[in-house]
Amino acid sequence: MNKKTVSDSEVTITELMIPSYANFGGKVHGGILLSLMDKVAYVCASKFAQSYCVTVAVEGVEFLNPVEVGELVSLKASVNYVGRTTMIVGIRVESLQPRTGELKHTNSCYFTMAAKDDEGHLREVPFLQLENEKELRRFCEGKAIRKLSLEKREFLKANLVDVPLQERIDMTVDERVELTFI
Ligand SMILES: CC(C)(COP(=O)(O)OP(=O)(O)OC[C@H]1O[C@@H](n2cnc3c(N)ncnc32)[C@H](O)[C@@H]1OP(=O)(O)O)[C@@H](O)C(=O)NCCC(=O)NCCS
Repeated sequence: MNKKTVSDSEVTITELMIPSYANFGGKVHGGILLSLMDKVAYVCASKFAQSYCVTVAVEGVEFLNPVEVGELVSLKASVNYVGRTTMIVGIRVESLQPRTGELKHTNSCYFTMAAKDDEGHLREVPFLQLENEKELRRFCEGKAIRKLSLEKREFLKANLVDVPLQERIDMTVDERVELTFI
């Protein structure tokens, strides 16, 4: 049986926030952080699965604190949960102000990554060996996140894609919109 530990998957990326990463408000652009999260998730998943991986879904991205230019952002990632062909990579993002030593937790999020073979077909990922209670807790959280993610997909399909026009119109009651086409 092909199996790996959580530690086998662990990766940290650290990057200095340079002035060109700033948005119009002078803080680091959220898209820069998202791109770094995607990179660390890719490295973590492909290291664990030993194959090419793609991003399937992202859960829980919330920017809890702004990141300033000049800070050092670290993204710690590990595989928390494995399905058959996918993994949930947990990422913790911290930002360090090197001059003062102030450390901020800016985000924790979960990237679902799928393993693919050279032909682009989904391929099985290794079994995950859980070596302590913290890893077991994260695995169970991952299982709940997977359930939510699939339920959300079904919910959106049922409630947003296949909805009749009148129901859509009814949904706008008490909302801050004006329908100018009916
Ligand atoms: C995501 C993708 C792999 C799903 O393919 P599919 O044929 O619909 O696959 P299935 O429904 O059989 O599910 C395959 C796996 O994906 C998981 N999955 C599918 N949709 C999911 C979602 N919205 N959230 C979380 N997991 C999801 C399934 O649970 C299953 O996991 P498992 O094998 O670990 O049990 C496929 O749509 C894909 O390759 N998308 C493109 C991804 C990509 O290119 N990303 C880069 C963005 S630029």
